[in-house]
Amino acid sequence: MSEITTAAPFDVRDRLAELVRSGTTDLAPSIKQVPLDDYRDPERHAEEIEKIFRSRPLCAGPSAAIAEAGDFTVRDVLDRSLLITRDDAGEAQVLLNYCTHRGALIAEGEGCAKRHACPYHGWTFDPRGTLVGIPGAEGFDELDRSTAGLVRLPTVEAHGFIWYMLDPKGTIDIEADLGSFGAELSRWGYDAFWKVSTMDLEFPGNWKTTVEAFSETYHFPYVHGGSIGPGVVSNTSTFDLFDGHHRLGAALAQMRDFAAGTIDFDPDWQTSLLYWKCPDLMLANTPFGVEVVQITPTLDVGRTRLRHTMLARSAPTTDEEREVAEVMSYPAADAIRLEDVPTLATCARGLAEGEHGYATIGRNEPGVQNIHNQVARLLG
Ligand code: FES
Ligand SMILES: [Fe+2]
Repeated sequence: MSEITTAAPFDVRDRLAELVRSGTTDLAPSIKQVPLDDYRDPERHAEEIEKIFRSRPLCAGPSAAIAEAGDFTVRDVLDRSLLITRDDAGEAQVLLNYCTHRGALIAEGEGCAKRHACPYHGWTFDPRGTLVGIPGAEGFDELDRSTAGLVRLPTVEAHGFIWYMLDPKGTIDIEADLGSFGAELSRWGYDAFWKVSTMDLEFPGNWKTTVEAFSETYHFPYVHGGSIGPGVVSNTSTFDLFDGHHRLGAALAQMRDFAAGTIDFDPDWQTSLLYWKCPDLMLANTPFGVEVVQITPTLDVGRTRLRHTMLARSAPTTDEEREVAEVMSYPAADAIRLEDVPTLATCARGLAEGEHGYATIGRNEPGVQNIHNQVARLLG
């Protein structure tokens, strides 16, 4: 890979070294007990969907996932199929992926296309969603084509990500939503990163349990003990809030040597900053790039979707660099698919079927506590 230009912040360094030396972690003031119904009550779930997912800005994905004009990717979010594109003017668009003729899904997967032809009768749309072609056009000579484009959702691109509202009539104010978190995101220059791979998963469990799993390193020795776990000093993290969104500074194994004063500081190999942008975006920075993890509910209180996009810090310049980037992405994706998800599927049973009343979030899990605090705040 080309030379890494590090943007990893130094402001967690000394706090994290002190936590490693003293064998502790940033602590919340008290434990938090979350009623099991918060994970399994369909009415509560419907309220979360309406007040959080249908009325607040969500993340369509990293800008780097559709870097060039014509690039597109298709995702399901709740009960919507989204066609996310970059148009000829370079603007990101989030379109409803439903043909305006009779509703067929226009596109699937990801790729690059100047035109999207509906597989049913061949109506053709450009990456802005404009209807540009109708086979047998005389059959539709009365149709005002300007009213038959794909539905465009309110969309804005900022800080290396594409943000949108699921409600076509909504208005989006991403800076108000991000607050001080926007500047923290911008420090990384994510818009210049390069997409290595995309993985989509759907599995049992309430969406919050998956967000929780990306907000602590407490589980690493148990769930990831045979893979990525030894690279992390588990249960040892700084915690900071940015207007409700949060950042964990996780200690990597080499932080032990820096904390002991035997090596110089190297942010990439000693710290990993993990972010939660409420409600649907998690970031895990690695020495090579960043894992972008998008977590959304389904209409079913007990099923979750996850999209994992691996970004490298820069585009490869040779085939060999490309291969290295791909190989480097495997352990992170495998840890989610083969370790986190099967564990979360068992949590899904315990939270749905359990008679123990509450899940208990420790003082050592301030990120997990914050997820529940923010959801409660947004539900009012
Ligand atoms: S449904 Fe798309 S062209 Fe007919
Ligand atoms: Fe994990």
